Amino acid sequence: MDNTSAVGLSVPLIHAEGVTKSYGGVRALLDGRLTLRRGEVHALLGGNGAGKSTFLSILTGIVRADGGQVNIKGRPVRYMRPSDALADGIAIITQELSAQPEMTVAQNLFLGIENNAAGFLNDRAMIADAKKLLDTLGFDLDPNAKMKRLSVAQQQIVEIAKAINRRSDILIMDEPTSALGDRETEILFEAIRRLRSNGIGIIYVSHRLTDIFQIADRYTIFGDGRFVETGNIADIDRAGLIRLIVGRTLPDQVREQKLAVTEPLLEVRDFSAATLFTDINLTVCKGEVLGIFGLMGAGRSEFAEALFGNARKDRGEVKLNGQPIDIKSPTDALSAGIAMVTEDRASTGLILLSSIRDNISLPALRQFSRGGIIKGKAEAASVRALMEKLRVKAASSATRVRNLSGGNQQKVVLAKCLNTSPKFLICDEPTRGVDEGAKREIYAFLADFASRGNGALFISSEVPELIANTDRIIVFKRGSIVAEVKSAETSQEQLLHLAS
Ligand SMILES: Nc1ncnc2c1ncn2[C@@H]1O[C@H](COP(=O)(O)OP(=O)(O)OP(=O)(O)O)[C@@H](O)[C@H]1O
Ligand SMILES: [Mg+2]
Repeated sequence: MDNTSAVGLSVPLIHAEGVTKSYGGVRALLDGRLTLRRGEVHALLGGNGAGKSTFLSILTGIVRADGGQVNIKGRPVRYMRPSDALADGIAIITQELSAQPEMTVAQNLFLGIENNAAGFLNDRAMIADAKKLLDTLGFDLDPNAKMKRLSVAQQQIVEIAKAINRRSDILIMDEPTSALGDRETEILFEAIRRLRSNGIGIIYVSHRLTDIFQIADRYTIFGDGRFVETGNIADIDRAGLIRLIVGRTLPDQVREQKLAVTEPLLEVRDFSAATLFTDINLTVCKGEVLGIFGLMGAGRSEFAEALFGNARKDRGEVKLNGQPIDIKSPTDALSAGIAMVTEDRASTGLILLSSIRDNISLPALRQFSRGGIIKGKAEAASVRALMEKLRVKAASSATRVRNLSGGNQQKVVLAKCLNTSPKFLICDEPTRGVDEGAKREIYAFLADFASRGNGALFISSEVPELIANTDRIIVFKRGSIVAEVKSAETSQEQLLHLAS
């Protein structure tokens, strides 16, 4: 270290050691350790359930540590509540979006500070300020829009703007890009670089290693609640990081199509919904995984939700195995054999207050009930098998989903879908927030699923993932299909070019 450490500027923003936290019997954090300097982006990495979010919740006063030492700008602290951390200039964007569905963007941006001395005289001033803030950050959002009308990505951007607006010098981002497309990620990174050059320190959590190499200066890795290693990003490569995160080497794998593609499984004809998407026609054969690519707002998710009966469509026909099916609700889709892994697990995928077991078995109860009586044993066995298969990390199947780490929640979403024994799977960002090891398991599962004569739609904004795990990719642009390519013959550049 340098010899000017008596001078304020060289004192680290955060220096934490030996931080511990247990929830009941669950030891979430055994040795949390991290040093954050001014003007750096520090990646905090580790598998699902490694203790990252727990550690960050302690730094930001959301939960209290059991033990250990945290120094903020040279001063030992022990925060009792989030406002203590905010007062010290620490802002956090949490992994799960704080839902303020009825508020407008502007109201949410200034939440908690509307009534201070510089308070807004009226809504108009607030909206003008919100517009100015969003413009400065390069975020293209309407300050008058209601939060519930925004996509996950847009809501995330509002949270980021809100944190930046609080003039914090420590900014903590827990998977900020997990729901963003390339273009929005780039906008976010530009904002982060600007903050960094102003001396702000940023802790950045992500399972997207590509993002880490683009934006981070240093890294710290946690594994099973313990500090593993810290270093400079410039001194390590992707394979090296993966080895430290999952504790083993993972080979790159590319999908091999195992079945000859001859028999149509899912046929979609002239699917349309007002301004969202128009005349979507596609066929997925038995054994196929069809990718859908598009930029934010291209209509991919809207189409997938409508296909699953979860959003409206105006017209269009669907056939499964040659039989016309009429899907008016997710229940219709499920009973026809179509399941969906949703992008926004908190609002559409899971019942957070219920147990893992209840969440997984809910849509499949029919299978386990005979004359209205649920066959408890069969249900429990099926839940256990799925939890093992996907390596859900939890004390037991009775654990509430709310108490799981983000990645483990996403695994429960997948388990819930698989438990309905679908023939066709719609996957919308299925690996969102999932660690590198579990991603491979999801990919392998999908390949195996297709090879048994099933089919899938795979939507992902991570292009390498999309290319590696699909057979064909159709490109959405402003609600229409504008191109179709073979996955083995395309590239990131070509897809981006076709979509923009
Ligand atoms: N409120 C809680 N009650 C019980 N257990 C909890 C609670 N919060 C977290 N845990 C457990 O603590 C462990 C660490 O979770 P944490 O959320 O910190 O992981 P993470 O590294 O952020 O993982 P991810 O990458 O999946 O987000 C997990 O096993 C989790 O189930
Ligand atoms: Mg987390």
